[in-house]
This record gives sequence, C-alpha cells and structure tokens, in this order.
Amino acid sequence: MAEHVRREARGRVGVITVDNPPVNALSLAVRTAVRDQLRAAVADPAIDAIVICAAGRTFMAGADIREFNARPVEPTIGDVAGEIEAAPKPVVAALHGTALGGGYEIALGCHYRIATPTAKIGLPEVNLGLIPGAGGTQRAPHLIGVKVAIAAISSGRHISATEALAMGAIDEIASGDLLEAAIDTAQRLVGTTLRRTLDLPIDVSALPPDFFATERVAVAKRYRGFDAQPAVVDAVEVAVKAPSAQGIAREREISWDLKQGAQSKSLRYLFFGEREVAHIPGIGRETPLRPIASVGVVGAGTMGTGIAVNFLNAGLPVTLIVAKPEALARGRDTIGKIYARDVTKGRLSPDVEAERMGRLTTSLDMAALANVDLVIEAAFEKMSLKQEIFRSLDAVCKPGAILASNTSTLDLDQIAAVTRRPADVIGTHFFSPAHVMKLLEVVRGDKTANDVIATLMNVAKRINKIAVLSGVCFGFIGNRMFEGYVRESQRLLLEGCTPAQVDKALVDWGMAMGPCALVDLAGIDVSYLTREGNRANLPADPSYCLIGDRLHQLGRMGQKAGKGFYRHGPDGAASDPEVETLIRDEAKRLGIAPRVIGDDEIVARCLLPLISEGAQILSEGIALRPVDIDVVWCAGYGFPRYRGGPMFYGDTVGLTQIVDDMAKYARQCGNDFGYWTPSPLLRELAAAGKGFKDWTGA
Ligand code: COA
Repeated sequence: MAEHVRREARGRVGVITVDNPPVNALSLAVRTAVRDQLRAAVADPAIDAIVICAAGRTFMAGADIREFNARPVEPTIGDVAGEIEAAPKPVVAALHGTALGGGYEIALGCHYRIATPTAKIGLPEVNLGLIPGAGGTQRAPHLIGVKVAIAAISSGRHISATEALAMGAIDEIASGDLLEAAIDTAQRLVGTTLRRTLDLPIDVSALPPDFFATERVAVAKRYRGFDAQPAVVDAVEVAVKAPSAQGIAREREISWDLKQGAQSKSLRYLFFGEREVAHIPGIGRETPLRPIASVGVVGAGTMGTGIAVNFLNAGLPVTLIVAKPEALARGRDTIGKIYARDVTKGRLSPDVEAERMGRLTTSLDMAALANVDLVIEAAFEKMSLKQEIFRSLDAVCKPGAILASNTSTLDLDQIAAVTRRPADVIGTHFFSPAHVMKLLEVVRGDKTANDVIATLMNVAKRINKIAVLSGVCFGFIGNRMFEGYVRESQRLLLEGCTPAQVDKALVDWGMAMGPCALVDLAGIDVSYLTREGNRANLPADPSYCLIGDRLHQLGRMGQKAGKGFYRHGPDGAASDPEVETLIRDEAKRLGIAPRVIGDDEIVARCLLPLISEGAQILSEGIALRPVDIDVVWCAGYGFPRYRGGPMFYGDTVGLTQIVDDMAKYARQCGNDFGYWTPSPLLRELAAAGKGFKDWTGA
C-alpha cells in the first residue's frame, strides 16, 4: 500500500503526496505511509521543509470509515498529526477539494495551511455520530477560538476557503498553482519559529464563567436527540481547561465511546446507504446515459415550480408549461419569489438570481417541449389528466426524450401505456418543497428502460438529491408506508389522545415532526384525496382516518387554511378545543371509551405498522434493499437519522420483539382488519432469528 503515498524532493522541499482514490481516505496503510515518509523527510539532510498534499480530486477527505467497526490501530491519525506538529522542520498542508475530518486534522497538525480558492474544509464527524478523534476538538479552538470551533464542529458543515481564511482555519488562499505556492511557503518558513497549533494561546477572556454549561444546553437543544454534538462541547472544554496531552487523550476516549454507540452505527449505516441506493442491481456503471441538457416541466403549481428551481439551479434551461394564460406570469412569479427570499437572506447574489431566472421560459404550448431532453409532468393528481398530458408529450417530444411523471400515488404503468414509448417513461416523485427536500423517489415502470433509470439516478445527483428506486405500487415506498403510520396516529386520537400528545411522543422519540402536524403541513385535503384515490382498497373500518376525513368535511385544510388538527397563527400551531371536542364526539359515536395512553404505546403503535409494511414492500420487490427504505424515511419523512431508519431500527429492537409487540396490540386493539398481522417476511425473519440486514433478496 506504500504506493498510495509517495515522496519526492523539489529542491530542498520534500513533497509527500497521498494518492488513494477516490477520496484519499486515511486508511491504516495510508497513515502509516504518511508517517514513514514524514520521518524519512525529517531525517533527510537534503530536505529543509515538507509539504503534504494529495493527488486526484481532493485532499484527504477523512478517516477510512470502513475501519470504524474496529478499535483504531496505531499509528492513529491523531498520532500522525502529533508527529507532524512536533517535526523540527516546517510542514505545510496544501489543500484542495474537500479537506475533511481526519484530513483536516492532519492539516491542523501542520505549521501552515494553504488552499485553493475552491477548497472546502470541515470536521463533519458529527454526521457519523462522532466527534473528531485526531485532535480536531483540541487544535481548532487554538486556531479559530472556542465559540467558532464549537459551532463549526457541532454543525459538521463544509466551510469555503474564503470563510476558512477569515476565521483563521487556513492561513492563505493560493492565487496560482497550489503546489508551487506551498513549496514557496515551506521554503520561506525555514529557519523561522514554527507555529505549532497546540502551543497557540486560547483566548477565553470573552467567555462568561458558565459558558460551557450554557453552550452544552444550547447545542443539545439545537441538535435534539443527537449524542455527538453535546460531546463536542465536552471535548472543547477539556481543550480549554486541561493540558493538551490530557485533552488529546480525553478526546480519543469520547470518540471511541461514541463510535461504539447505537447512534454512530446508525449514522455510518446511512452514510454508506445513501451511496448504495445509487447502485441498481443489473444496471452497471457502464450503462450509457442519455444526455440531459434541457428540461421541460408541465404544471406550475407548488410542485412544478419547485421542481423547475432544482434544474435552474443546476444550470439547465427549463421550459415551464402552464394550462391557462393567467398562470404564465404566476409560474414565473412563484419561482422569482423563491429566489428573492434567498437574495434577501444573503444566500444568493442578485447576479446569480438573474442568471437562473434567465434560463426559465414559460409557455402555454406543449410544442415548446419538442426539443427538450427530459420532461417532468407535475399536474394535478388525476389519472385522466396525466394520461392526456402524456399523449400530448408523446406527440410533440423528440425521440429519446425521457418522459417523467411526478405522481405520488398513481399507477405509472397506466400513464406509460397511453404513449408509444413506455420504455422512455419513468416516475420522479419529488417531496414538497421540491427545491428543498433531499429525497427523490425514482419509479421504475414495467417497461422503463435501464438507461432511462440510470440517467435519472445521475440527474438526481446533478440536482443534489438522494434518489431511491421504487417499483410501482400505490404510494410507492414512502407514502405506502406512511399510510399505516397515519392511520394508527389518528386511531390513537379516538382512544383518548390529543393531536399534541401523539405528536409530542413521536417528536420526543426523534421524529422531526409529529404525524398530525405533518398532515396539517402537507394539507388535510391532500391526504384526503389520496385516501379517496384508494378507497376501494381501504379496510371497511369506520374509524379509519376518521378525524382526517371529518376535518376535511369541515374545511379545515391544514396549515395553509390556518386550521386543521391545530389552529395555525403567526406564533405557530396551537391545540384547538374544537378539534378535541370533535374527536371526543366521534369516539363516543363509535363507542370507543377514552383512556390514558402512555408515550411508549403511542410510539410503538405508530412504528410497528411502518416496520411491517416495510417488510412487505421488500418482499414484493418494490424496494431493492432495506437500506433503500431507510434512506427514504430519513431523507423524506423526518425519521431520526440516529436511529438509522425503520428497518435498521427494527433490527436494533430485534424482529422477534417486533412480532411479539404486534401480537400484543392484536390482542389489545383487535385485529379485524389485519393491522397487527406481521408481514410474512417479518415473521419468517423473526422465526429464523434473523434481521432485515440478513435479507438476501425478493
Ligand atoms: N471512508 C471510506 N470511504 C469513503 C469515505 C471515507 N471517509 N468518503 C467517501 N468514501 C467513498 C464513498 O463511500 C464512495 O464509495 P462508492 O463509490 O463505492 O459508493 C466514494 O468514496 C466516493 O464518495 P462520494 O461521497 O460518492 O463522492 P462525492 O464526490 O460526492 O463526495 C466527499 C466526496 C468526500 C465530500 C464525501 O464522500 C464525504 O463527505 N465523505 C465523508 C467525509 C467524512 O465524513 N470524513 C470524516 C470521517 S473521519
């Protein structure tokens, strides 16, 4: 593995280059070789100074996450950073691409950091449920100050070179060639007093005496439920209050404890999962992609405009088709408002806004789509309307154009069937707001061609989405599972809970929002119409989503109408006694006696149907792998990432326990409609003492 790190002399400067594609992860072999080359350069009398850089697309992007299941083997990245810092010759880090995690910790050990203008740095370990374990929490406060260090490390965000320079996280931005600049600097530093990060004083004069206690509470609140972020404060506190050797040791301990915990395991699973979902069995990387250089969007409602923004942002021209003349200006306005908000908040410059708006064309005429490479239909959720649109698209679009539907529930095959080119038809289910939400369900119809799927998975990456492939069924992966979750949340209301109580129990458990608040946000009418579209398949249960139906009848359409499960005002959502009376009246009418229900029961009754339906979806081949389901739920439905997703969580609890709990609720609630009958796959895996992780395919 020594070939992954090489050293050459450039005059009297030793250049150590890490070359371990794709991201120069610091595996044991790589960090050992970096240390050995450092020692050799220090020992070499022909060398006065050292540069550490990397080949390929990026500086070292961190530790090798695949090694995280075992105890770190020496030399650790921290050991190497320490040796660099102690070196008697100047060591300069030359940063390009993404200098992240262990990579940036190596740079922190260097005596000087120089970066390209496009480089990004960061300590994103919290995203893996960890704190930096190679001196990051100890060195960063010396360099950038206590408050800024806590904010940067606990957010885990990538920081641009300009911002990094302003905060002191790097020392210089190279105007020309990075390596040449680094070599020049290294030469210049020869004979000067070396700036060792851990020796720099930490300025604590502005910190109030209770700073760390207050900060810990604030960070815990901001990153509700996560263990790693408050631990960042603990580690930085040691950096301030104890000698550096003690701080380095304490940081290592905290990092190791977190690494073994359930949260980090879940988050690491999702890290690889979010990349695995892009790999579709049977569709290799060699599959040719159709070129996508222009896009059409049909429909300028909330979804259509949000979808258009994604492509405008990615530099693609978009033709937006509207049905009525008055919608021409409205569509453009809606998109303009999205950008205007970003400009006001300083997230976007007026120039970039103008450039993006300049790529937008609106038209009433489908013929304007004759030459686009991809069309996404985002019209009202009605089969006859979608079929009419697809007939027109089939008539006007050029051969080879991809025709996509943003349907969230309808049968894609019936839509594809009205065209003469079903192989070119695919589903692209965006989540609202479409320009913000990371998830995209790509729906494979019976006849969708492999290159169309491969192209859409690639397009998703270009527009910064996480795409998950789903087969055709009502609601695809996410909304199909959501059905049982919402059903149970509303049944709990009839049995004695309030919407606030149900929501609080699930939010306390980790969900980003409770189900009642979520349905209010999405629209009471939206979930009602979804049920209407599937009535024939719904159970003959008089209590089934009854409160949602009644709210719809009363015109309480949710947040947009100012009332739904809650009353919504400028100060947010508040419980509404009218809704509570409605719930009690309906319960009485159905003869359901109210009782006191604990949080554990609320959480279990909402999650068990989710897990069982996930198993069913797997066995039907709708989702390719358990991780696809988990990614959908974490990226699209606010499932707590630190629990890994419903399937991973099911495995954490144990599938035998899940089956036993379902049997318990079958006894308690009755099982006339089969709600508590586990999916056969769930039962089989449990009986065999296995988990979803052992599942080998439908
Ligand atoms: N360890 C092991 N493998 C890693 C890795 C790491 N630190 N970082 C990335 N990879 C792998 C990915 O799994 C992926 O593998 P695949 O092609 O088999 O799916 C490959 O490298 C490319 O990564 P990808 O994320 O697809 O590339 P990108 O260009 O979109 O993003 C990064 C590059 C570096 C920004 C991104 O990979 C990243 O954020 N990595 C993690 C950084 C991190 O958390 N470091 C701290 C760890 S201490």
